[in-house]
Amino acid sequence: MPISMHSSQILPCLSPLLLQKGRSPFLLFEFPSCMMNNLLDWPEPIIRVQSLSESGLPAIPHRYMKPLSDRPVINWPESCDVNIPLIDLTGLSDDKIGLPPRTVDQIFSACREWGFFQVVNHGVSPDLMDRARETWRSFFHLPMESKQAYANSPKTYEGYGSRLGIEKGAILDWSDYYYLHYLPSTLKDYNKWPASPDSCREVTDEYGKELVKLGGRIMKVLCVNLGLKEDRLQHAFGGDNLGACLRVNFYPKCPQPDLTLGLSSHSDPGGLTILLPDHQVPGLQVLKNGRWITIKPAPHAFIVNIGDQIQVLSNANYKSVEHRVIVNSGMERVSLAFFYNPKNDIPIKPVEELVSEDKPALYPPMTFDEYRLFIRLKGPKGKSQVESLKSPGCH
Ligand code: OGA
Ligand code: NI
Repeated sequence: MPISMHSSQILPCLSPLLLQKGRSPFLLFEFPSCMMNNLLDWPEPIIRVQSLSESGLPAIPHRYMKPLSDRPVINWPESCDVNIPLIDLTGLSDDKIGLPPRTVDQIFSACREWGFFQVVNHGVSPDLMDRARETWRSFFHLPMESKQAYANSPKTYEGYGSRLGIEKGAILDWSDYYYLHYLPSTLKDYNKWPASPDSCREVTDEYGKELVKLGGRIMKVLCVNLGLKEDRLQHAFGGDNLGACLRVNFYPKCPQPDLTLGLSSHSDPGGLTILLPDHQVPGLQVLKNGRWITIKPAPHAFIVNIGDQIQVLSNANYKSVEHRVIVNSGMERVSLAFFYNPKNDIPIKPVEELVSEDKPALYPPMTFDEYRLFIRLKGPKGKSQVESLKSPGCH
């Protein structure tokens, strides 16, 4: 079992196993049963980062202090012209790609070299973008009791949360969040969406509808750039049964931003992420050639990035790149990360058209449900998961 040997080298605390006969050979990580049982609840009481921040404490608690090697360098003089590619999507519609060849090429290079790009003229109304972000900002400014009614658990993560992963004593990130399902409709449950502010459910619904459409349009461009049929990736995602969820991130002001992170380095486990950043406060950094580059968002742009499932389906032609979020002492930050994901229970593996004798499949099949269990138990951990799946000798 070369794959499991390889994986356990990279993930020493997890021992993967291959399921036996009668089942597809999905790779599963075997977590200690105590960890799986504990999925029902958090390992220790939850502290809202926003409450800590608002208490005005002068120093952050130890739980949020990152090891030296992970700490950000704040105010590092960065050259202003380094940014992720900015792409104008004028011409891209639900029925046709309609983009100039140069733009299609720009998207191809961005997916291969950065794993990230930002898009303008994407077809989503700027007014809807502002309403979505500001409605959610208002949610986080509600009294704590109103938010606590939606407190989440590690079983599904839906609701109001303050940590990822259930490792007792883990170092935590300086953020709170709200997580909800938009698709499939069987998982969409308005009772798990905030009833207040008044507009929240309605705006989130409208926003979700537009972002699913935008995700579908971008997926087509990703396909043609790989020489695939326009709907190939969509089909691999489960066609109309694909998944979509929203994580609203809230990064409160932090008295010691140089010691912690708003969100630790990670790659997104899903398909495609479409992020609405805070228009006033930068914070998202992407790793490029070993350096952290702070993204400077264009007005009313979305930041799009490739997730691990598209890296797998594209047989690593496209890269899911590590990113993280830094915080600051002067301003809170709100972002909406919309995850466009494969259906949760179908095997995801490199598409056959991209596999040949010269380019063997780099990853074994695995369902998205199995895959994301890792992050749900362990929290954000760079790219350790997708890398650990790679077959030996294929780097
Ligand atoms: C995420 C993420 C970045 C941000 O939610 O996965 O990377 O700017 N968010 O909040
Ligand atoms: Ni992310």
